[in-house]
Amino acid sequence: MTPQRRHDPELRAFASDNYAGVHPEVLAAIAVANGGHQVSYGEDVYTEHLQEVFRGHFGPSAEVFPVFNGTGANVVALQAMMDRRDALVCAESAHVNVDEGGAPEVMAGLKLLTVPAWDGKLTPELIDRQAYGFDNEHRARPAVVSIAQSTEVGTCYTPEEIRAICDHAHGLGMKVYLDGARLANAAATLGVPMRAFTTDAGVDAFSLGGTKNGLLFGEAVVVLNPEAVQGMRYLRKTSMQLASKMRFVSVQFEALLGTDLWLRSASHANAMTQRLFTAVRDLPGIRIDRPVQANQIFAVLPPAATEALQKRFRFYTWDVQSGEVRWMTSFDTTEADVDAFAAAIAEELAAAL
Ligand SMILES: Cc1ncc(COP(=O)(O)O)c(C=O)c1O
Repeated sequence: MTPQRRHDPELRAFASDNYAGVHPEVLAAIAVANGGHQVSYGEDVYTEHLQEVFRGHFGPSAEVFPVFNGTGANVVALQAMMDRRDALVCAESAHVNVDEGGAPEVMAGLKLLTVPAWDGKLTPELIDRQAYGFDNEHRARPAVVSIAQSTEVGTCYTPEEIRAICDHAHGLGMKVYLDGARLANAAATLGVPMRAFTTDAGVDAFSLGGTKNGLLFGEAVVVLNPEAVQGMRYLRKTSMQLASKMRFVSVQFEALLGTDLWLRSASHANAMTQRLFTAVRDLPGIRIDRPVQANQIFAVLPPAATEALQKRFRFYTWDVQSGEVRWMTSFDTTEADVDAFAAAIAEELAAAL
């Protein structure tokens, strides 16, 4: 029996950008790369060409390593930047800390030193809360500062803020890793090329998210400073992130970054978030404390309103205690989706008050 369509293709949620399907231009690219045989494990012509595509964005020192997913990208890259006795410093809200099921610890034995950051952003002062005891045998050596752009709470660092973090970390003998699961959304918000807050800011290595920006699957680890990263090729395999049919990951990234698709899709997702923000920000009963700078909104609602809304639209409760929820838009969210959701929010807030 041929596969049947088992879902409503018009139904869109506000839970995560990875609820979305695949951008048609990416699906078409996969078909282009299909047929015939290509050498496996990354020695194919698409992966070879991808180096050029990434160097066009990030400069001649960039080396790209396609992987399956964002957790894998973080774990492989961080492992390659750290010794067994090292630790990384990150925000408490960092994906590596709260959303990877302990993968950095379980899969790579990494020690995480966290600091509270309400807006998800580290600063040199916050880093200093954990960056000490480099020669103390009783303490894991802080070796890497790990930040996310955009952050897990939807905020963006300016290029200058990342430059200040890199200068500070490098001055302490530490390296800088950037989790770029939503790198494109930050570039769209800031109106600068992605290299402005990676290569030009002094970041040593970063991940670039594809899945959240319309790929079927696939993320990339990008090494900018080869001296800061050891053994990526080997650790990618050891960490089960080496795709044998890599051409199909690489060609997706070519579709995304070889054209302006990365920016079109991210700008659209961000614009849909701003549309929702404008529609709901002043409704009685809603509180939005965190800056809305990328493709997500964090709102505090009365529990009754959240409960009623979640029966109508999928989205996640971020913090059960405070009642904060997260709404996220993606490349395929439409204005009509946003308007219907905003109307439902207004109705359920009115009913709950
Ligand atoms: C900031 C950030 N980093 C990494 C990831 C990991 O992505 P994956 O689910 O592909 O492992 C996510 C996914 O939500 C994320 O939000």
